[in-house]
Amino acid sequence: MDGQSDRAGPLLNTDNQRLLLQTAQALLRANDTGGFIKPGPAQYPHQWNWDSAFAALGLAYFDMARARAEVRSLLRAQWRDGMVPHIVYPTGPSDYFPPPAFWQTERSAAAGPLPSSGLTQPPILTTVVRQMHGLAAEDPAGLDFLREVYPRLLAWHRWLHTARDPEGSGLVAIVHPWESGMDDSPRWQPVLAAIEPAPSLTFTRRDRVHVAADERPVEEDYRRFIHLITLFRSWAYDPQALYERSPFLVQDAAFNAILHQADHDLLALAHLLGEDTRPIEQWISRTRSAFARLWDEADGTYYDYDLRGGRRLRVNTIAGLVPLFAGLPEPAQAERLLREHLLHPGRFAPDGGTRFWVPSCAKDQPGWDPRRYWRGPVWLNTNWLVLRGLERYGYAQEARAVADHSLELVRRSGFREYYDPRDGSGAGSLAFTWSAALTLDLLHRPPGTTVEW
Ligand code: DGY
Repeated sequence: MDGQSDRAGPLLNTDNQRLLLQTAQALLRANDTGGFIKPGPAQYPHQWNWDSAFAALGLAYFDMARARAEVRSLLRAQWRDGMVPHIVYPTGPSDYFPPPAFWQTERSAAAGPLPSSGLTQPPILTTVVRQMHGLAAEDPAGLDFLREVYPRLLAWHRWLHTARDPEGSGLVAIVHPWESGMDDSPRWQPVLAAIEPAPSLTFTRRDRVHVAADERPVEEDYRRFIHLITLFRSWAYDPQALYERSPFLVQDAAFNAILHQADHDLLALAHLLGEDTRPIEQWISRTRSAFARLWDEADGTYYDYDLRGGRRLRVNTIAGLVPLFAGLPEPAQAERLLREHLLHPGRFAPDGGTRFWVPSCAKDQPGWDPRRYWRGPVWLNTNWLVLRGLERYGYAQEARAVADHSLELVRRSGFREYYDPRDGSGAGSLAFTWSAALTLDLLHRPPGTTVEW
């Protein structure tokens, strides 16, 4: 890729790699509470769903037993109806807001055995479990582990495909921006703008105690996030009520792509275990054909669909590139994603103003804000999703460049939650778990490494 080395600095040499491996492992150990891995020591002291999944992937490279324990610990919080919650509070309250009591999940008959939120998050866990199995395919304990977790993974997928897609459209809906994992992404602005913010006197934000306010969601958005929770509490988290009444009801392109890949991975596990594959095959074929509706031919990317407003949310963010991860675009569509977006200097590629791939929002969008949470900073997990996607389409050089930029960011600025694409400085939480875990994956499995399942 043009000028890659002068934009990102030299590629990592072996000494740097060794150091990164050691510090990444040490970070995962340091964030380990014994029962679960915290995403960040001060900012996020509880267990988060996709953070734990990424943590398990990193752990699998040096402590498979601990990686399996992490997966088990997350699944232990599963609700009776199959949902796996987005935050679990196994150790009770802390200075994090919202505390467990705020959710009032006891109002729901389906609530799980542990204090948790009443929302879910992108289901990357099944993909991680399959990758973990690939790393230890010879280990006899590996198959036992799969047998143990498979029914819970299946129940979560079933819940997503039914509770969140009751009409069987092939695309599941999310009901809260927190479910996307990309909380304040500009793609939610058109929907959030019509949602009433919760009165500020009813709660106290705590997310700006450890992190600068200009790196966190703006006040109005945060109050809207809280307003949605108060609605869901009043509906006792009944999935039907949420689907029928939530003012935020969106088919998220990234969430659905991650689920689609996870369905493929679940299918592979079902084959290995001799389980019934038919429902999974049905989900896969339904999603594949429905997903085409999210493609915008004029703009050459994928957009989310606002079910409540009956409109496409035409905001260009990294979510449009995530379907590559699941092999969803046709080759010609993948080529457009690459040429018109990833490599476009006014959008996602480095130019005079930014130096690092891949900003979480295209630079030409009105919501672009390079240091604020999901409004522009580079995140290691979305870089990882994109580069694994590029790899599967044969864009080896581009996948390698995104991996190199990711490693260069952690080498310069440490394992931060996100990075300013202009200068690579770190932002958000310090000592962030998935930045370390995915560094381990990139170092052990650099793009281009063949994986045997
Ligand atoms: C937060 O507190 O910002 C989390 O992202 C919610 O999941």
